[in-house]
Amino acid sequence: MNALLGIDVGTSGTKVLVWDGDDAVILGEATAEHTLQTPHPGWAEQSPDEWWGATCEATKRALAVAKVSAADVVGIGLSGQMHGSVFLDASREVVRPCILWCDNRTAPECDEITQVAGKENLHRWVANPALPGFTAPKAVWLRNHEPENFRRTATLVLPKDFIRLRLTGEMATEVSDAAGTILYDVEHRQWCDALIERLDLPRSWFVPVKGSEEVTGELTGEAAAALGLRAGIPVVGGGADNAAGAVGCGIVREGRVFVSLGSSGVVLTPCDTFRVDPDERLHSFCASVPGQWYLMGCMLTAGLAWRWARDVLCPDLLGQARARGADVYDLMMAEVDAAAPGAGGVNFLPHLQGERSPLNDPRASGAFAGIGLTSTRGDLLRAIAEGITHNLRACLDVARDLGCPIEEIRLTGGGANSPVWRQLCADVFNAEIVVLGTAAGPALGAALLAGVGAGVYPDVPSTEASVPTGERVIPNPESASRHEELYRRWRELYPTLRPWMHGG
Ligand code: XUL
Repeated sequence: MNALLGIDVGTSGTKVLVWDGDDAVILGEATAEHTLQTPHPGWAEQSPDEWWGATCEATKRALAVAKVSAADVVGIGLSGQMHGSVFLDASREVVRPCILWCDNRTAPECDEITQVAGKENLHRWVANPALPGFTAPKAVWLRNHEPENFRRTATLVLPKDFIRLRLTGEMATEVSDAAGTILYDVEHRQWCDALIERLDLPRSWFVPVKGSEEVTGELTGEAAAALGLRAGIPVVGGGADNAAGAVGCGIVREGRVFVSLGSSGVVLTPCDTFRVDPDERLHSFCASVPGQWYLMGCMLTAGLAWRWARDVLCPDLLGQARARGADVYDLMMAEVDAAAPGAGGVNFLPHLQGERSPLNDPRASGAFAGIGLTSTRGDLLRAIAEGITHNLRACLDVARDLGCPIEEIRLTGGGANSPVWRQLCADVFNAEIVVLGTAAGPALGAALLAGVGAGVYPDVPSTEASVPTGERVIPNPESASRHEELYRRWRELYPTLRPWMHGG
């Protein structure tokens, strides 16, 4: 048997999936949760050591569910949350907690980088602007705010590459995650020495970059013992969660688009040629498919806004779910379903931690508008779900305007598990969508990439044939035309509130 392991170091937890490379089925999966620290408003940090603990726990549990023996596992692939900065010292110890992709502290550093490097050069050199959340501004922040930690740092790695270090003892990354540092020449697939030099960052901090499907090392004896596996299993490059997620959803060529309702909300459109959004609404990164790129809209708080709604608006539902052994999100969705489209006039801007796509505005914030005495909690919840979905539609519209072909939309992430949210996506996008749910996605993509490295599949595009296809959801014509109107009205809200958000 050719069993392949995909390890996805996500924001809410680490998921490990065991994939049968011969019969193309998931044999088992398990997730171990992470905590998220917010020591100041707008900050988001995690402990890399906690990810390692979660990786060991989830791997052991997934192997037990899958009932495969250690001898059956022929390859391991990694994927993970993008842009996080793991600063390591010369003894490879963690210098400070990882600053995450959804951390918003570095707006001044982004201005500093834009000033030092020049906006045009950033587009030319690294295909993207400096945005809070990306890795480069975090390195500059460390120098500006924690000079002692900056001096101690010997290497800067990304979240999944920290786990790679623990698994193999090797320091390496791969093209798709390197692209998200904004210190990488996305077009030519090499570190951008010009920008690293201009920002006066030590070149020695940056590790070798491999292809997503290339083997980067082998499981050490120590790691094998911690995971319940055998030493010597090849560990491949893998991919940034969105790039690996695209592979896990069978998105390996232009025309198929991936929409993810995870902690972040993502619209990813693969491109056979290198493209940059001149208006900086979508990011341009390297795909895990060799010779391919993608344009991506990332909204910072999709599932995170939904979790906020759970905690702040629905404490009673949390209690009920616990008492009944139900899923609290199903109870919330039942209220959304009971409310009418348009949420009785309530609108919601889902920018709870500033926003990247398509606004590119770190000072954007969340807002409810149109509340009246008749508004119910169901209306508020519906407005939140609609607001998140409208923002994803705005990203799809930008991709379409930039000439990206959109022939099929595949939906994944936790939100894809809800039939109500699936239908809302079909109606708001006014397009048929294919639902892959959470079974596909980054962990499966990582396992498929491991299969390429281990010789189970000949190349990355050929893995598409193994991806399970899901249910098709058709837009309801009446609802779709109502949502077209609601979307137009919703789009007026941010420009109206922007001056207020900016304190003007
Ligand atoms: C993408 C991004 C998020 C994280 C979430 O640019 O920041 O999608 O990768 O894990």
